[in-house]
Amino acid sequence: MSPAVEVTLAQFLQEQRALVDQELERLLPRADEYPVTIHRAMRHSVFAGGKRLRPVLCLEAGRLASGEEKPLRRVAAALELIHTYSLIHDDLPALDNDDLRRGQPTCHRVFGEAMAILAGDALLTLALHALAEPGLCLAERQLRMISDLTRAIGTPGGMVAGQVADLEAANGAADAEALEFIHRAKTGAFIAASLRAGALVAGAAEADLDALAVYGEKIGLAFQIADDLLDVSGTSAELGKTPGKDDRQRKATYPGRYGIETSRRRAESLVREATAALERFGARAQRLREMAQYLIERTA
Ligand code: FPP
Ligand code: MG
Repeated sequence: MSPAVEVTLAQFLQEQRALVDQELERLLPRADEYPVTIHRAMRHSVFAGGKRLRPVLCLEAGRLASGEEKPLRRVAAALELIHTYSLIHDDLPALDNDDLRRGQPTCHRVFGEAMAILAGDALLTLALHALAEPGLCLAERQLRMISDLTRAIGTPGGMVAGQVADLEAANGAADAEALEFIHRAKTGAFIAASLRAGALVAGAAEADLDALAVYGEKIGLAFQIADDLLDVSGTSAELGKTPGKDDRQRKATYPGRYGIETSRRRAESLVREATAALERFGARAQRLREMAQYLIERTA
C-alpha cells in the first residue's frame, strides 16, 4: 500500500468512527440517568477507544447495496454495543482476568465485577432493542438480519461457542481442527455477520450477500490470526491490552501451533482470497479491499 492510500484510509476510518460514535451517543442512556453506575460502566467501555471495525464493515457493505445511511448507522452502532459486551465479559476474572482493554482499566477494575457483568448484559440487550426498532427497514429484511446476527453471536457455531471452545482449549491441547473452529466461531462469525447485517438492511441481492459472506469469513479468520500475532509481538502501549497473555494462559493460537512465519503467510493468503471475493463490486468495494489489508498490517 502506498503512503498516500494509507493516509486516505486512515482519514476515512477516523471519519467513520466519528459517525458511529455519534450514533452510540444517541443510543446509550445518559451517564447521569438513574441508576447511574451501570450507565457509567457501559459508557466507560464503549467510549474507551475501539477501532469500530465491525460497524465500518457494516456501513460499507450496506453502501455497496446503496442502502440508506440512517438505518445502517443504527445497525452499525448496535454491532459495537454487542462487541463491547463481549470484551467486558471476556476480561472478567472468571474468563481472561484482564486489567487493561483499549488502553483503559477494564470495566470490572473500575466498577466491580457485578456491575461489569450487568453492563455487558445491558449492552447486549440495548443492541437487540435498537435492532428491533419498528420501521428500521422492511420488516422481512430486519427480521432476517436479527436472526442471522444472533446466530453468529450465540451457540452453536457463533461467538459464545467459540469462547467456550477457547476456554476449554486453554491447556494447549487443541488440534488443528479445534483451533480453526475457535477462530471462526469466536471472531469470524461476528465479523462476517456484521457485513451481512449491513447488506441485509440495505436489501442487497443474494449473490452480493454470498460474496460478502465469503469476504467476511476470510477476513474474520485473518483478523484473529493477526490478533494472535499481535499478542506475541505487540506492546501494551500499542495494543491497549496486556500482550503475551495467550502464551501464559496456554491458549490455542495460530502462531503457537504453526509458528509466526506460517501464520503470517496464512493471514496474507486469506486477505488475497477475501479481496478476490469482492471482484463483482468493482471500484465501489475499494474501501473494503483496503480494510482487509489494514486488518493484518495493524499494530493495535
Ligand atoms: C478484539 O477486537 C477482539 C477480538 C479479537 C475478539 C475476541 C473474541 C471475544 C473476546 C469473544 C468474547 C465472547 C464472549 C461471549 C465473552 P478489536 O481489535 O476490534 O478491538 P477494538 O474494538 O478495541 O479495536
Ligand atoms: Mg479471551
